[in-house]
Parts: sequence; C-alpha cells; structure tokens
Amino acid sequence: MALTNYEMEIAIVYTSVTGNTRVLAENIKFVFQQYGISPSLFEASLFPCEILKDFDAIAIATYTWGNGEVPSSMHPIYEAFEQSDTKHVITGIAGTGDSFYPHFCGAVDAFRDMLFVQTTLAATLKVELAPQDTDLPRCRLFVESILKRVRQRK
Ligand SMILES: Cc1cc2nc3c(=O)[nH]c(=O)nc-3n(C[C@H](O)[C@H](O)[C@H](O)COP(=O)(O)O)c2cc1C
Repeated sequence: MALTNYEMEIAIVYTSVTGNTRVLAENIKFVFQQYGISPSLFEASLFPCEILKDFDAIAIATYTWGNGEVPSSMHPIYEAFEQSDTKHVITGIAGTGDSFYPHFCGAVDAFRDMLFVQTTLAATLKVELAPQDTDLPRCRLFVESILKRVRQRK
C-alpha cells in the first residue's frame, strides 16, 4: 500500500435518510483507513462549507430524490462548490439509488457534471440501494482513484 506516505486532509460528506448512503460513506471511510488515512466523516448538515478549499480531497456520498434530483440537504455544499475556487480540490462523487426510477442515481450525475467543472474530479460510484459485499472492491477503486490524484498533486 504505497499510495500514501504524507499527510493529507480528506473529508467524506454524506446525506442519508434510510441508511444506505451512510453505509456507503462508512465503507469509503473504511477503505481510506486501510491505506492508513483517517478521513473526517461529516453528515452534510454539519459540514462547514467555508472550509471546502482547505481539503486535499472531498468525497461526496448522496442518495437521489424526486425525479433524479439532488436532495435539499446537499444543496449547501453543491452551491458552495459552484461559488468557490476549488479547482485544486480532488473530488469523488458516490451515491446510492434505485434503478426502479428512470434516472438512476441522478444526483450523482448532477454532482459529477458540476464537480468536473469546479474541481479535479477523480472518481464516480453508483450503488444499488444498500451496499453489498460485492460493492467493497468498487469502493476500493473509488478511493484508489482519489488517492492517486492527491499523490500526483503533492
Ligand atoms: C420519493 C423517492 C424518490 C426517489 N427518486 C429516486 C430517483 O429519481 N433515482 C434513484 O436512483 N433513486 C431514487 N430514490 C431511491 C433512493 O435514492 C434510494 O432508496 C437511496 O438508496 C436512499 O438512500 P438512503 O438510504 O441513504 O436514504 C427515490 C426514493 C424515494 C423515496
């Protein structure tokens, strides 16, 4: 595990109503920890948006609401990225959704398009409802993509 040999500030910001996305965020945190990194895990309403720029990397984890929409709890951080100079911040966007709906994980797509412009987007991940054991390798790839980009920056 030679991806990290320096200090890095990483945040995971999630929102969850029924728990699926919270589990996904915790799985992502677990994988970071396997690389010897301790990311800060924030529920979205508790994340201080004014310090967005201070992180080396931020992973967002969101569910999708309405008809493929970003949940209102994620609007503050979404708008903070839109309004801040955060091109230096490495980002990843992950989410859970239900493929029963026409726009599966639409909030992930919306974040992806915005983060691609506003930040250095490294990874996306969509998970069907509650994360399964088979999603752990996908979480690992998500985290590794973020770590590789951070290492290139350092
Ligand atoms: C009213 C409602 C609308 C939803 N709309 C979508 C949608 O458009 N696309 C999608 O992929 N999932 C949709 N979902 C499914 C949730 O995103 C999914 O259950 C998610 O895993 C919930 O995350 P949580 O357990 O972290 O709250 C919807 C769920 C509800 C209840």
